[in-house]
Amino acid sequence: MSQITLTNIVKKYGDGFPAVNDVSIDIKDGEFVILVGPSGCGKSTLLRMVVGLEDITSGDLEIDGKRVNDLAPRDRNLAMVFQNYALYPHLSVFENIAFPLRLDKGKHSDEEIRSKVNKASDVLELNEHLERKPGNLSGGQRQRVAMGRAIVRDADAFLFDEPLSNLDAKLRGQMRTEIARMQRRMGITTIYVTHDQTEAMTLGDRVAVLKKGVLQQIASPRELYEQPVNLFVAGFIGSPPMNFLPARVEGNTLHLPFVDVQVDQSIVDRLKGDMAVVGIRPEYLKDASLGDSMAGNAVRFTATVDQTEWLGNEQYAYIPYETDPSVQAKLDELDRELDGEGMRTQMIVNLDARSRVREGDEAELVFDPALMHVFDPETSECLTRNEEEASRIAQQSEDDRKRALERAKERDAREDAAAKN
Ligand SMILES: Nc1ncnc2c1ncn2[C@@H]1O[C@H](COP(=O)(O)OP(=O)(O)OP(=O)(O)O)[C@@H](O)[C@H]1O
Ligand SMILES: [Mg+2]
Repeated sequence: MSQITLTNIVKKYGDGFPAVNDVSIDIKDGEFVILVGPSGCGKSTLLRMVVGLEDITSGDLEIDGKRVNDLAPRDRNLAMVFQNYALYPHLSVFENIAFPLRLDKGKHSDEEIRSKVNKASDVLELNEHLERKPGNLSGGQRQRVAMGRAIVRDADAFLFDEPLSNLDAKLRGQMRTEIARMQRRMGITTIYVTHDQTEAMTLGDRVAVLKKGVLQQIASPRELYEQPVNLFVAGFIGSPPMNFLPARVEGNTLHLPFVDVQVDQSIVDRLKGDMAVVGIRPEYLKDASLGDSMAGNAVRFTATVDQTEWLGNEQYAYIPYETDPSVQAKLDELDRELDGEGMRTQMIVNLDARSRVREGDEAELVFDPALMHVFDPETSECLTRNEEEASRIAQQSEDDRKRALERAKERDAREDAAAKN
């Protein structure tokens, strides 16, 4: 059980390059926090500083209110699970899990070791495999052994660095659920690094989005999705990604490629120039011909569909458009930062599977302008972010988290009582 507080953490490597730049994060006891961002944004560096594998250049790292910057890794009582698991091939699964206990020479009796390993293998469903060697196990089983080793240590927190990146897609999905279940059940503070946004969104109580060593936003998955602070977060979270459309501003009218939309004067007033970037998630655009109910002020327009992909439960339509070169330059830069493959000037629409819209059709589409995000292309800032709504979402997520932890505790108590009878 631990609370981990990072205050103004900076890491400069030998060449003076700030890999982590002034990051502050307050991780609550039992919370599951994800560090996410494109390759090279400083995720591993940050995690390694928390465990003690990397010196902190400046700032404070506290565990339960005690500054631990200068504590050796083994004195921090944190358990790290690496991407490559670091298992010993000549030892059985049992001995691999027991390893950290055996390292503390004489501290644990054989009986105690057996009991701890068995408890961990129960949680991880490894009971049938305890006598096998890691080499004979599947990737997912190896992953669980590595986690078992972290569990038996009674560590104050778990730290994961891309633990699933070596697994195939199916197993990754399974392990993701496993990790979520285990973390809830044990109620242990967890920091988890990934560049996979599905992992980030499904596992995290809160997700910290990093860009070039700088923290952009830390919030619940839902707040990141609905109330992003800037273009980078908006573009990073969500798949397929949010559409970014260039808009020429005239009075309080935004001229989008297909349609004009009115916005509040207060938003226009905050724009630095006469261009805006409008963000619309693919699923916010609907096929008007289906006649599904929409907000009273819904915006309608027609556009020519270039291509469609029907997936059974949903379908994607791709709609190309012309763009202003100056805004396009900004969007291309954003795309490079997001490790993208080049932003095509096309809009992606996630239509209902019932929609009959097909290649070459003039489709009539409709969207609720209240769901639209407006960004300033110069500062990248999201001008439509609603702080009140954001704190309401944050409060809800925090309530959900506490409820899940309580439920897990009750279940544990029930199971303990059952085991005694
Ligand atoms: N030992 C080192 N010496 C110098 N620079 C380093 C060192 N380790 C990392 N860096 C630099 O620090 C930055 C952050 O690296 P880090 O490994 O933390 O990124 P990451 O977010 O984990 O990326 P990835 O998703 O690729 O694992 C990178 O620019 C990297 O080149
Ligand atoms: Mg890394």
